[in-house]
Amino acid sequence: MAVALIVAAGRGERLGSGRPKALVTLAGRPMLEWSVEALRAVPSVSAIVVALPIEAVDLAPAGCVAVAGGAVRSQSVQAALAAAPAGDDPVLVHDAARPLADASLFAAALAELERSGADAVVAAAPVTDTIKQVRTGLEVERTLDRSLLWAAQTPQVFRREALERVLVDASDELLARATDDAWLIERAGGSVRILPAPADNIKVTTPRDLHLAETLLRQRAGG
Ligand code: CTP
Ligand code: MG
Repeated sequence: MAVALIVAAGRGERLGSGRPKALVTLAGRPMLEWSVEALRAVPSVSAIVVALPIEAVDLAPAGCVAVAGGAVRSQSVQAALAAAPAGDDPVLVHDAARPLADASLFAAALAELERSGADAVVAAAPVTDTIKQVRTGLEVERTLDRSLLWAAQTPQVFRREALERVLVDASDELLARATDDAWLIERAGGSVRILPAPADNIKVTTPRDLHLAETLLRQRAGG
């Protein structure tokens, strides 16, 4: 079995809807509900914990454990992990801002953790742009080898003991620097593997992303 943590406590400032992004309507329902529905369809997921903005904790979907999130994303993950049922089952972490992730992606990430024996497995898509590294002043220093580059997404899945080791006592300063959870495992010397994932598992950040997500979800329903 596995425990799922959905972080949904962001303010959605770049989307600019005037309410938490996870609660913005997307293809007919609050964005958060797409991820909850997909996780409910994964037989091995036994509990779902959702971190929400403190004033929205009452709005968690039925059957989920609701918890107030923190000031930065990783603090919300920390709070959700602390509220998870006790045990040593794997932990799946997912951003409510990725409503296109489906049950097969969640199940594949959990299966890859089991198969590989790694501490963490990260859904990621191959980078398609050529990436330039610059010095300050926008002078190009070098071009990275694209064949080695992957854009990290969520879900990210973890052996529970490995995630607790890096997260439970982490300082707020460290958590403020973490742009994903797997990085905390990497810097502690743990093993992290990539699970190739669809590029359409987009993160909704801007109004343009919301429009694209709406199109993709409606296409999926129709096809
Ligand atoms: N998140 C969270 N707690 C925070 C910040 C972010 O749970 N303190 C969650 C968001 O709800 C989202 C995911 O982390 O599901 C990725 O964050 P992001 O896309 O940056 O969302 P927001 O922080 O809401 O957006 P913005 O940065 O534009 O305000
Ligand atoms: Mg943010």
